[in-house]
Amino acid sequence: MKNLRFNIWAIIALSIFVFACDSTEDVDPDVKDPQDQNNGKDEEVAAIPLKELFKDHFPIGAAITPQHADLGTNHGEALVKHFSSVTAENVMKPDALQREKGVFTWDGADRIVQFAKSNNMKVRGHTLTWHSQSPDWMFYDQNGALLSKEVALDQLEEHITTVVSRYKGDVYAWDVVNEAMFDWDPNGEIIYREDSPWYKIFGPSYIDSAFVFARRADPDAKLFYNDYNSIFSWKRNKIYNLVKRLKDNNIPIDGVGLQGHWFVGTSEEEIRTTLDLFRGLGVEIQITELDIPVYMSNDEPGSTVYTETFSTRQKQAYKMLFQIFLDYKDIITGVTFWGIGDDATWLDKPGRKAFPFLLDENLQPKPAYFEVQKLLN
Ligand code: G3I
Repeated sequence: MKNLRFNIWAIIALSIFVFACDSTEDVDPDVKDPQDQNNGKDEEVAAIPLKELFKDHFPIGAAITPQHADLGTNHGEALVKHFSSVTAENVMKPDALQREKGVFTWDGADRIVQFAKSNNMKVRGHTLTWHSQSPDWMFYDQNGALLSKEVALDQLEEHITTVVSRYKGDVYAWDVVNEAMFDWDPNGEIIYREDSPWYKIFGPSYIDSAFVFARRADPDAKLFYNDYNSIFSWKRNKIYNLVKRLKDNNIPIDGVGLQGHWFVGTSEEEIRTTLDLFRGLGVEIQITELDIPVYMSNDEPGSTVYTETFSTRQKQAYKMLFQIFLDYKDIITGVTFWGIGDDATWLDKPGRKAFPFLLDENLQPKPAYFEVQKLLN
C-alpha cells in the first residue's frame, strides 16, 4: 500500500516535470508578445499606462469630481495609473467656489488639488470667467438689473485673485476665459457671445481684464482661452483674431484650449488646419475636454450597447487624433479627457450612451486604447 502511494506520487511529480519541460520556454504571463498587436489580438497585449505612453510628449489629464480623488476607489486607482494631470469637472467653476458673494467653498477643489499633489499629478484649473455656472450676483443687483462696469469688474478681480492665489504653484494652467465667442455664425458677423452677461456689461473688455487679473495673482501659471467648435472655420477665425488682439495689446495669454468634444467622424483636415493657424500665434495649444462619442452626429439614433461598429469607429478616430497630437507635439502641451471612463460622462442620455473614452465602464482599456498605444511602439 505504502509502495503504491509512493508510485502514484512519483508519477504525478514526473508528469508535472515533463509538462513543465514540454510547455513553451520561460513565459512570463505579464509580458505579452508584441507581434500579437499585428494579429488583431489586442486583448493579449499588455496595456502601458497612458501617462507612460506620453511621458516624453505631454501630460495626459482627466476631468474629475472630488469623489474620484480617493485612492480607495477604482476611479482613484485608474487616475494614478493612467493620468498625469487632473481638472475639476465642476468644482472650480464660479458657482461652485463662490455661490454666495464673499463666501468661498473650497472643500471639493482642495480635495482634488491635494490628491494631485500627493500623487505627483498636475492640475489644470477650469474655469475663472464663464457666462454659465456663475452665480447671478456676479452680474445682477438685487432688482435683477445688470451691474455697473465698476462693480462687476471689482467682483471679477476679487474672484480671480482669490481663487488663483489660493492655488498659486499648485494649478499650473488656468482656463481664464471660457466660451466667449459666438457659437454659430457662418458669415462671421457676430463675433462674441452677446447674450453673455459679461458681454452685456463690458463688451469684450472683460476678457482682457480677466487675463490681467490672473497673471497678477500667479505670474507663473499658464493662462488659456478655452472654447469648443474651435476647429470650424467660422469659429477658429474669431478665436484667432481674439488671441491676436490680446497679444498685440500685451494682454498676458499663453495658450488656447481646444475642447475636444468631437465625434467619431471629425475631420482630420479641420483639426490640422486649426493647429497650423494657431501655430502662427506663437501660443501653446492644449486639448482640454477630449471625449469622442461613438456616434457620427447628434442625430444618429442612440444605443446602450457598445457594438463592433462603435469600436471600429472609435479605433479609427482615436488613432487619427493621437497621431495629430503627436505630429503637433511641439505646440500641444497637454491633452485632457473630459472624464475618466465610459461609466460617467456628461454626454450620456437615457437610452443613449456615449462611450466616449479610451477606458471602458470598468475603467479597463478599450480596443481604441491599443490603437493609440501602437502609435508609440
Ligand atoms: O450638483 C448638482 C446636484 O446637486 C443636483 O442634484 C443635480 C441634478 O441635476 O445637478 C447637479 O449639478 C449638475 C452638475 O453638472 C454636476 O453634476 C448640473 O445640473 C449640470 O448642468 C452640470 O453639468 C456640467 C456642465 O458643464 C454644465 O454646463 C457637466 O457636469 C460638465 O461636464 C460640463 O462641462 C462643460 C465645461 O465646463 C465647458 N465646456 C463644455 C463642457 C460640457 O458641457
